[in-house]
Amino acid sequence: MTASPPVALDPLYQLADPVLEARIQAAKESLGERCLILGHHYQREEVYRFADLTGDSLKLSRLASQRSKAQYIIFCGVHFMAEVADILSGPEQTVILPDLAAGCSMADMADLPNVEQAWRTLGKQLDCETRITPLTYVNSTADLKAFCGDHGGSVCTSSNAEKVLQWAFSQREKVLFFPDQHLGRNSGFRLGIPLEEMVLWQPTLPNGGLSAEQIERARIILWEGFCSVHTLFQPAHADLFRQRVPGIQVIVHPECTLELCQKADFLGSTEQIQDRVRNAPAGSKWAIGTELNLVNRLKKEMPDKEIHFLCPIVCLCSTMFRIDLPHLCWVLENLLQDYVVNPIRVPPREAAAAKMALERMLSVV
Ligand code: 13P
Ligand code: SF4
Repeated sequence: MTASPPVALDPLYQLADPVLEARIQAAKESLGERCLILGHHYQREEVYRFADLTGDSLKLSRLASQRSKAQYIIFCGVHFMAEVADILSGPEQTVILPDLAAGCSMADMADLPNVEQAWRTLGKQLDCETRITPLTYVNSTADLKAFCGDHGGSVCTSSNAEKVLQWAFSQREKVLFFPDQHLGRNSGFRLGIPLEEMVLWQPTLPNGGLSAEQIERARIILWEGFCSVHTLFQPAHADLFRQRVPGIQVIVHPECTLELCQKADFLGSTEQIQDRVRNAPAGSKWAIGTELNLVNRLKKEMPDKEIHFLCPIVCLCSTMFRIDLPHLCWVLENLLQDYVVNPIRVPPREAAAAKMALERMLSVV
């Protein structure tokens, strides 16, 4: 049985935010350079404020690989991001995810047994090891990154998917892309691949729901995964803003559907969306299709621009939202007592193979 942490979580929920903020600040100061807090752009504001460094998935992966002096990396993001940080950080560093329930529903849509099954099924028709490059979106579990590492494949993020796809095609003629069909389709489309050469693999159907001819003709085999947040944004929302606000520019994340992305002026990762709107002239008008916390932050930061949330309903990454002030306070105050709660440790063999796939990505972008 594991001992309970010296600082309990539940009583922290009785405290008001200013008290928690003061305790977090004090713990952070005491830990000094021993502790680094990384924050993804979707993180709720009150937590994001405490991040030492912020970014999209690619930037945060790079930061984790740069071996800061920190003994502890507290990752305010979701589980797959903390796994990547563990894989790319030094052996003497410990990555902590403040709430282990902060997962990614899209990452859960592809698992190793199903991907191995798909690989075996495809292998009955063609030699996968010479004809298909497996490519996983970074929003996936470490064992799937390891699968890509073991089978000559790589990883991509929303900011580099087109470049990594090009690399994948330089290796083999076809790509098996998982778990996000939309990022795969949008990126393939932008590289000029016709829609009929991008087929959907439905893991619950025999042969993925595809005929032998469809597989033979396909350039990209897209896994049937999606983000439940980004698929809430609809093409009609872009039409509506264009009618109502003359001169508005629409910018969306590539996890949105192709139909919406085709109507947008720009696509980008969270960091790229943020940079483009920040660098736009005062008075410019924007409708942004990505998670609400990021859009609200940009609105507040740039009152000289007209910034709208593209969707009429709330689109929130509810799993990332689980990381709150009590959890941040809890992990920090336990560290002060040399107790590590919620460490993320990818098993060594899996980590080595996943690292190979991640390094292939980092070497092309
Ligand atoms: P970014 O890499 O663009 O930050 O995207 C991560 C993500 O999960 C978007 O839903
Ligand atoms: Fe996963 Fe979607 Fe949340 Fe991104 S926004 S972490 S893809 S559930």
